[in-house]
Amino acid sequence: MQGILFPRGVVEEREGLQEYRARGGYTALEKALKGLAPETVIQEITESGLQGRGGAGFPAGKKWAFTRECAEQPHYVVLNGGEDEPGSKKDRLLMENLPHLVMEGVILASYAVGASTAYLYVNSQYNKAKDSMAQALAEAQEAGLVGKKILGSDFNLDILFVAAPPNYVAGEDSAALEVIEQKQPLPRQKPPFPATAGLFGKPTAVNNVETLANVPAIIASGAKWYRSFGTPESPGTMIFSLNDEVNRPGIYELPFGSTLRFLIEERGGGVKGGKSIKAIMPGGPSSAFLPPDKIDIPLDHNSVRAAGSSIGCGVVHIVTEGSCIVEEILRIADFFAAESCGQCPACRMETNTLAVMLKKVQQGQGGQPLLEQFSKVISFNKGKGFCNLINMPGPPIESALRLFRPDFEFHLANGRCPQS
Ligand SMILES: Cc1cc2nc3c(=O)[nH]c(=O)nc-3n(C[C@H](O)[C@H](O)[C@H](O)COP(=O)(O)O)c2cc1C
Repeated sequence: MQGILFPRGVVEEREGLQEYRARGGYTALEKALKGLAPETVIQEITESGLQGRGGAGFPAGKKWAFTRECAEQPHYVVLNGGEDEPGSKKDRLLMENLPHLVMEGVILASYAVGASTAYLYVNSQYNKAKDSMAQALAEAQEAGLVGKKILGSDFNLDILFVAAPPNYVAGEDSAALEVIEQKQPLPRQKPPFPATAGLFGKPTAVNNVETLANVPAIIASGAKWYRSFGTPESPGTMIFSLNDEVNRPGIYELPFGSTLRFLIEERGGGVKGGKSIKAIMPGGPSSAFLPPDKIDIPLDHNSVRAAGSSIGCGVVHIVTEGSCIVEEILRIADFFAAESCGQCPACRMETNTLAVMLKKVQQGQGGQPLLEQFSKVISFNKGKGFCNLINMPGPPIESALRLFRPDFEFHLANGRCPQS
């Protein structure tokens, strides 16, 4: 199965400028600067159906058009390499090993939205990724691909680095803008959205690393070609991450619409120790659990949504038979409670309350009335924070209560896991 980002399989080593150019790198930039108006670049991205890979799946072309069309100047682009989602390493790998692919995506995005400054916002713990991108930037500057009059055109672009604090909320787009403005990583109230009022109040396209890495291929080969991968509603490919629960952990680029079974069994080599699957979280810690009979669903936004969950940024977590779901969601609830930045009272209260309630269930306290409280706390707080973190603990907890009630009942009756 051919990939778009990894045409010959996941790259294990860093690709330098020469190698990237030898396989057609920077021809998309040349094509754009020599013959495509910025609006045409945006139109191509819109027609390709490229959706953000940072979690929300927002159409990239639409976001760029919002920024481009703002009269307010200057415009900015931010590459979001904050990546702090548990189990996600895809953005790190792209920046480490395919830095010029990412760089070309950043330059094309800047050309399209009319930005003359772009920021590379990279997780401060990703030293190798930062070094790789810094080297790529120096190489690109040397080759006239970044800087003044790029490739002889009238397009100028400066690219700057900013270290992203290693915490979850710092990857939220408006929190990233605060950090670039040298403030604390605290999300802003929206609207206005960054696309129209972002960095220093100016129109700013913030995009995930994987999103921008898709751009050069789309501009080089066209939207129609891109749409030959994936499904009509989720075109292209997506990088999925499998962790230690499978025989071959790693990241896998698959066309949208490939099944969960294909990812887990064919790519991941099946579940370690041949254990059977109790539940699957298809999109990281904020996605609802799916029961094992959903293993044949296609991995695309609509199908996963129809099955009751979400695809997020592609971290697929498998819970094996014999594991306790109460312990699983307690870990998740503790994570969100710890990662809530605390500025929105509702989020601070909700995330902590859910974690405390789950701890009580784990210890056999509270009885049935406590189980009934979860959905009340979750629905009462929905949407009441500046960012989406407030909505994140809900889906795993509510799906666990729906699908694995006996685990909760056992804890309430015995104060321990069924297996211990
Ligand atoms: C708590 C939280 C953390 C986030 N962390 C990241 C992150 O590390 N990287 C990322 O690209 N998007 C992250 N996002 C999503 C961004 O806010 C934003 O939607 C994304 O950068 C937009 O890029 P895209 O449209 O290319 O996906 C996070 C969102 C939330 C609510």
